Amino acid sequence: MVLVDTHSHILPGIDDGSPNIMISKKMLEAEKSLGIGKIILTPHFYLHEQGIDAFIEKREGAIEQFAPVAEKLGIEVKYGAEVLYTKSLADLELDKLCIDDTNYLLIELPYQKLSGNFINEFRSFVGSIYPDIHLILAHAERYLNFTDEDSIYEIMNCDMLVQLNSGDFKTFYKHSKFLYELLYHDMAHLLGTDCHNIKSRPPNMDIAQKAISKKISPDCFRHLMRNAEKVFAGKNI
Ligand SMILES: [Fe+2]
Repeated sequence: MVLVDTHSHILPGIDDGSPNIMISKKMLEAEKSLGIGKIILTPHFYLHEQGIDAFIEKREGAIEQFAPVAEKLGIEVKYGAEVLYTKSLADLELDKLCIDDTNYLLIELPYQKLSGNFINEFRSFVGSIYPDIHLILAHAERYLNFTDEDSIYEIMNCDMLVQLNSGDFKTFYKHSKFLYELLYHDMAHLLGTDCHNIKSRPPNMDIAQKAISKKISPDCFRHLMRNAEKVFAGKNI
């Protein structure tokens, strides 16, 4: 089975991920050694820092260096972004930030308590872009450091796919229960490494593969990978 990473910061020199093409190459080699054959590159997009066109131009520069290295290693790649939600996103041409030829967009919520007002605003935003854009919620478990479970469940109910970070399946992770609840109830659809470098936040799909296979079943992990294949191909899950 070829594994798919749906969330990564391997493109060089574009965000707080890989600083240069040498590190990018090492990260790709690490991905490959774990059986990853397809990767979606999702550098951070912060609207308060730059507009979409400036982001795309910068990303093109990084791709120029990166694409031949990935190709040489036999890894298929697609390019997207991890978009930090703000209300004004609704006024933008968001299709430009979708994963290449798909209508999938990886979205990250602000790290704060998610109030009822925020959830209503977010729900309207999702409605305003539907059905042109299909959102993927980045690392759903991470918001638990800032807000309560119920508010995250409300956000997930806004008709989105849900992605979990592979490294958070490590032993003794403080929100493990939440991760497994989502998987048991088929409320999480995708895994990503969210790798940023080779030391502190490396490619680590093996952590999720081992933990999910042991605690739920190998088939559950395979199911998540099949979902990722579909997203990569722009198909519905
Ligand atoms: Fe990320």
